[in-house]
Amino acid sequence: MANASGFFAPSVPSLRRRIQPPIGIFGSGSRFPEGFSTRVFCSSTTEGADKLASGASSSESRVPRLVSQGCKLVGCGSAVPTLKVSNDDLAKLVDTSDEWISVRTGIRNRRILSGKESVTTLAVEAARNALQMAQVDPDDVDLVLMCSSTPDDLFGSAPQIQKALGCKRNPLAYDITAACSGFVLGLISAASHIRGAGFQNVLVIGADALSRYVDWTDRGTCILFGDAAGAVLVQACDSEEDGLFGFDLHSDGDGQRHLNAPIKENEMDNTLGSNGSVLDLPPNRSSYSCIQMNGKEVFRFAVRSVPQSIESALAKAGLPGSSIDWLLLHQANQRIIDAVATRLEVPPERVISNLANYGNTSAASIPLALDEAVRSGKVKVGHTIAAAGFGAGVTWGSAILRWG
Ligand code: ACO
Repeated sequence: MANASGFFAPSVPSLRRRIQPPIGIFGSGSRFPEGFSTRVFCSSTTEGADKLASGASSSESRVPRLVSQGCKLVGCGSAVPTLKVSNDDLAKLVDTSDEWISVRTGIRNRRILSGKESVTTLAVEAARNALQMAQVDPDDVDLVLMCSSTPDDLFGSAPQIQKALGCKRNPLAYDITAACSGFVLGLISAASHIRGAGFQNVLVIGADALSRYVDWTDRGTCILFGDAAGAVLVQACDSEEDGLFGFDLHSDGDGQRHLNAPIKENEMDNTLGSNGSVLDLPPNRSSYSCIQMNGKEVFRFAVRSVPQSIESALAKAGLPGSSIDWLLLHQANQRIIDAVATRLEVPPERVISNLANYGNTSAASIPLALDEAVRSGKVKVGHTIAAAGFGAGVTWGSAILRWG
């Protein structure tokens, strides 16, 4: 088991430090070792491929950056598919009922991709809404992080999102795969890029369509998941204003046996024994299995690990539990949310929950719930949020944040 809290060092490829010694990135806000200069100049390649191809020198393609900054959340957005699927609808597919699903999970409806909708279109809409709230022009975004386990392209969707948003300066864009923990990992990655490498405006998108990998004949899993996208804009600010107070991240590959969707080889290719060539090459029409889950084990893992992680992040932030204005967990099961809140002694009125309407939307669930809570006026500028993700891998982690 790896405790990754506070592990970041500023070793981003293509960065060149001009002042030594290097700074560290710390789990608790923007604290630097005593005696270290917090002003570090870096540069990074953010220009478009066409400019590089046109022969621009490497020095021209590097943007000077001054690194002595914190980060804060300044905008959020979300998007959901139009097709609503209720528990009663599912009861027509499998042997279940609205009562069983709502009592055991808290879920009543979910949204499922249909027509021309895709993970990318949802992600773009959520990102646009976040940029609009933040009043940031797409051209001023210098990093897009797409947190998804179900991208429309095997190689990732972030560059497509960058293109669709019309970011003319071709900011760096890449995908992060960490299932339901993806968004929390994306947030910490954004903070690290800002604090350690001088990025200014980082879009963190959580978007998934687990409906594509659900076995619609398995009542133990098909009732849980929905599709959605959510996004936040994380922006550089003075280190005194830093809004990431502490974080705590973990992974444990042993837990993968309880929750997975492994690759499976095409049966036709297997009977041929190869991909059809004279060489014994692997089959070439691989696809992923549907989600396989031991619900009880996942439940136990979440209820045990998430409160520990939040307590650890609070300790690193130097904050008491009473400082939490909002508990914002990955929306997997209302019973998990309630158990974690009870353990942390957070009263129900300070717990954000919207899974009744959307089910478990994987990496999208935290930014989707945050967006609704901000737009409805629940979460206000200056509020402290304890956010935690957990899921396949298994991975889990938490962040203590300030909104705005
Ligand atoms: N409708 C009716 N009955 C059902 C259904 C259903 N949809 N599903 C299971 N049952 C039955 C079972 O067959 C079983 O019947 P039996 O007693 O005759 O054998 C009974 O209900 C109890 O089943 P359990 O699986 O023990 O039910 P449990 O209380 O554990 O609830 C659930 C199942 C809701 C899946 C729960 O375990 C859970 O939410 N676990 C966490 C799952 C989760 O959060 N996964 C996502 C992680 S995030 C990610 O990265 C994807």
